[in-house]
Amino acid sequence: MNNTIFDFVGGTIGEWKVIKMTTIKGDNLPDISYINKISSSLIKNDEGIWTLKGIVSNLRYTEKAEKEQLVAIQEDLGRPLATHAAFIPLRKSAEWWNLAQDERRKIMEESSKHTQTGLKYLPAIARKLFHSRDIGEAFDFLTWFEYAPADEEAFEELLYALRKTEEWNYVDREVDIRLIKV
Ligand code: HEM
Repeated sequence: MNNTIFDFVGGTIGEWKVIKMTTIKGDNLPDISYINKISSSLIKNDEGIWTLKGIVSNLRYTEKAEKEQLVAIQEDLGRPLATHAAFIPLRKSAEWWNLAQDERRKIMEESSKHTQTGLKYLPAIARKLFHSRDIGEAFDFLTWFEYAPADEEAFEELLYALRKTEEWNYVDREVDIRLIKV
């Protein structure tokens, strides 16, 4: 698929059924019962109850050695065993965006160990990051994770660890939506 823009359409139909929706921080999102993830364009999408757009982009902070570690073990989305998913849109504060690139990298990795912590959960958790800030969306990032039911507890443990970090002090909106494949 060439298209790098995706619409996450929340509504009453879709390939992923919502089993739980929790507002972690900031404003909630209207309740929905299904999410459809579709390849899209920047054109407004009126389907569903809400649509969040994100773009697959380049890496910002990952260093060469980390990238090699990730590539060596990470799995793609769409594995038949990965019937559970989490869709977690997040926004970071103006304070975060006012930091310089090297300051943000320091917080993410030297202090918060985002990648090093995340790596422990690979390949069980497959993930994809979509950027939304540069296209004027309500969230800065849309994150998508897929895993087998047996790895759900590990995923909770990962979230618990990340949400305690310095990086997460800069998250000012986060909605956690759990799904199962229809
Ligand atoms: C960014 C790895 C889990 C949210 C990143 C980056 C890496 C990474 C390497 C940096 C990308 C870049 O260079 O631009 C991982 C691994 C995970 C994991 C291996 C294990 C499953 C999570 C979880 C969340 C999350 C559970 C929370 C919902 C984010 C966000 C960013 C990010 C929002 C973008 C941060 C920014 O650019 O300010 N992740 N991650 N990640 N990750 Fe994770």
